[in-house]
Amino acid sequence: MSKFMDWVDARFPATKMWEDHLSKYYAPKNFNFFYFFGSLALLVLVNQIVTGVWLTMSYTPSAEEAFASVEYIMRDVEYGSILRLLHSTGASAFFIVVYLHMFRGLLYGSYQKPRELVWVFGMLIYLALMAEAFMGYLLPWGQMSYWGAQVIISLFGAIPVIGNDLTQWIRGDYLISGITLNRFFALHVVALPIVILGLVVLHVLALHEVGSNNPDGVDIKKFKDENGVPLDGIAFHPYYTVKDIVGVVVFLFIFCSIVFFFPEMGGYFLEKPNFEVANAFKTPEHIAPVWYFTPFYAILRAIPDKLMGVIAMGASIAMLFVLPWLDRSPVKSMRYKGWLSRIWLWVFCICFVILGVLGVLAPTPERTLLSQVCTFLYFAYFILMPFYTRLEKTKPVPERVTG
Ligand code: HEM
Repeated sequence: MSKFMDWVDARFPATKMWEDHLSKYYAPKNFNFFYFFGSLALLVLVNQIVTGVWLTMSYTPSAEEAFASVEYIMRDVEYGSILRLLHSTGASAFFIVVYLHMFRGLLYGSYQKPRELVWVFGMLIYLALMAEAFMGYLLPWGQMSYWGAQVIISLFGAIPVIGNDLTQWIRGDYLISGITLNRFFALHVVALPIVILGLVVLHVLALHEVGSNNPDGVDIKKFKDENGVPLDGIAFHPYYTVKDIVGVVVFLFIFCSIVFFFPEMGGYFLEKPNFEVANAFKTPEHIAPVWYFTPFYAILRAIPDKLMGVIAMGASIAMLFVLPWLDRSPVKSMRYKGWLSRIWLWVFCICFVILGVLGVLAPTPERTLLSQVCTFLYFAYFILMPFYTRLEKTKPVPERVTG
């Protein structure tokens, strides 16, 4: 075996990569619950790719046959229903895991110097993931697939001058048709997965270049032993690979319970109108995107003007991109930041959830007002950040990690 590895290593840096990224990658020893979600995101990504490849074997991407081919997968293909539900539940699980993963970043200032690029690659993954989920949702060719896509694509029509041409270019037709379905299929199955995989590699490479942050936000490279190993670091393999298995088991337990017993999740993971085939002549009573898009949908609807709404929705995501340059705090972790940062993080999270709920519901004047207040606070969290992070009194940060 060792002779074989010598042969390989002389031609390909297999052992070097294993050591750099696993057995000699020293991660802080105080990782907590929130550090499970990076490896879980990887797990869900693999689940989506594997189940997606198998679904593609029986799915037909044409307007005439798409809906029926999904029914065929659910009823006649061996293990077809499990494959499909693993994939549809996996999409929601992906966003739950990624939202918790991003929340960890906000909590411990993981986006701050020197991890700005880790964050920016993460945000690009998030954008690509949203595009991937949006295009995947058209494929079953149900009522909500059709009308959801109709609402979102028509938003591009609000852009002055080029708007109309742009929507036609995206659809490839004068209305959403089999042509749109075909191109979304190609992008969903081939192009975007490649982009996402590439970005995940860049994301992890950027992280391993600077090393992981931790719940205390202290730099573990300051104190090293005589061999250059950080005193507060432990080798990723075997210590964190074993710890991550615990997260994987708990996650799979919850995930499989949903796949087997509640795959529709009360209409949130699989929306009810999507059990009916797409019909261009029948608009569903209430069109709402899947839950993971609803905070942004609520921001869009909060602004009466369509173009301004689209701009606000774009800006709400753009804000997250520039977060590393908005936080001026001398400390990273919420543990040592002042009460202003803590209150604003709470406000931001509560508003995000409220917007998410409002985005599912049909608008009423009261709900629109509430969504306007939450949109205002959502932006205030970012715009005021350079001020409150500099003004507030922070706590002294310990030299070494605690606990
Ligand atoms: C497919 C989606 C993603 C995958 C597979 C992924 C994977 C990972 C992995 C394996 C780690 C190291 C383990 C950990 O710290 O939990 C990590 C760290 C990190 N990720 Fe992601 N990630 C994804 C999306 C995102 C997104 C959307 C963001 C934010 C915009 C993000 C921001 C970060 C940050 C800031 C770190 C460093 C955390 C620290 O050191 O404290 N990631 N990611």
